[in-house]
Amino acid sequence: MSLFFDAVVRWQRQHGRHGLPWQRTREPYLVWLSEIMLQQTQVSTVLAYFDRFVARFPDVQALAEADVEEVLTLWSGLGYYSRARNLHRCARQVVERHEGRFPSRAEALQTLPGIGPSTAAAIAAFCFGERVSILDGNVQRVLSRLLAFEGDLAQAGQVRVLWQLAQDLVPPHAVHDDMAAYTQGLMDLGAMVCKRSRPACEICPAQALCKARARQQPTAFPVKTRQLRRRTEHWWLQVVRRADDGAVWLQPRPDRGIWAGLYTFPVLTSVEAAAQPPQEAEGIGEPIWHEPVHHSLTHRELILQPVEWPVVRHQPSGPGRWVRHVDDLVLGLPAPLRVWLRGRLDGAG
Ligand code: ADE
Repeated sequence: MSLFFDAVVRWQRQHGRHGLPWQRTREPYLVWLSEIMLQQTQVSTVLAYFDRFVARFPDVQALAEADVEEVLTLWSGLGYYSRARNLHRCARQVVERHEGRFPSRAEALQTLPGIGPSTAAAIAAFCFGERVSILDGNVQRVLSRLLAFEGDLAQAGQVRVLWQLAQDLVPPHAVHDDMAAYTQGLMDLGAMVCKRSRPACEICPAQALCKARARQQPTAFPVKTRQLRRRTEHWWLQVVRRADDGAVWLQPRPDRGIWAGLYTFPVLTSVEAAAQPPQEAEGIGEPIWHEPVHHSLTHRELILQPVEWPVVRHQPSGPGRWVRHVDDLVLGLPAPLRVWLRGRLDGAG
């Protein structure tokens, strides 16, 4: 069905998204960086981050040489911080194992940290014209509708079947420019036309080929049994503030889990624990129970409640730092905490 391929390529050139900074290049470093940033974040948000990141780390060598904390700081606000850690690990591997050049095949690219099979295919198609198909969540929707694919995409085996069908849609002789337009076109169709609810079938370049539309059931696909449910978690943040200079104590999160490796206030998970004054402190004042801050993660709804303890002296055991100015931080700080701290620290803007 290269009719579909041709229709998508033509449509992308006329109606798809153009002029984004990572589309003006075939440089794998820039394409890779943008694809990682775009994995769970909207284009409009990524634009500013992308420019700032490239200004600071113009190539993979510069990124590999950087301190991971600086990478996390530049990433702060994009969320999903494991992406930033993997980004840094990946840059180091490219430098150490591939002489600073990204591999050109999807198969090799997906062995690198943070590059899944769909991202690997996107980089290989955009930069090297490899004839491989992407299949991220949006494209699963587009293709499962096109083909009226009945398999349950909550099952990995069914995703593999759909991937093979996706691969069969790519003509064996497609040229580099067409592979790039097709890959972008699939993404654009998913984002702009073939939306989750109320797909705009009347403007779709594949409307005549689409089996779900022929059945007048576009939203019956994809078939996926598992639903994402967010669990609510209440975290109390122990904000220890030094009376003399107003500094607060931040400590690094563990390497795994929510906000891995970022700096936060000590986290307590029960109100009883939160009501206990900080250990190892002297001259402790009355605690201030601040308004809770709500924050959504992919699988979790967090309710963050800062409990502030004025202290005269405090010598916490374990790693951490006293911080006086939020903008001085050469630390990764989760975005909701950065927002909360702004204006509450001396000299903060
Ligand atoms: N999402 C993931 N990759 C993208 C791209 N290249 N353009 C727009 N959105 C995307």
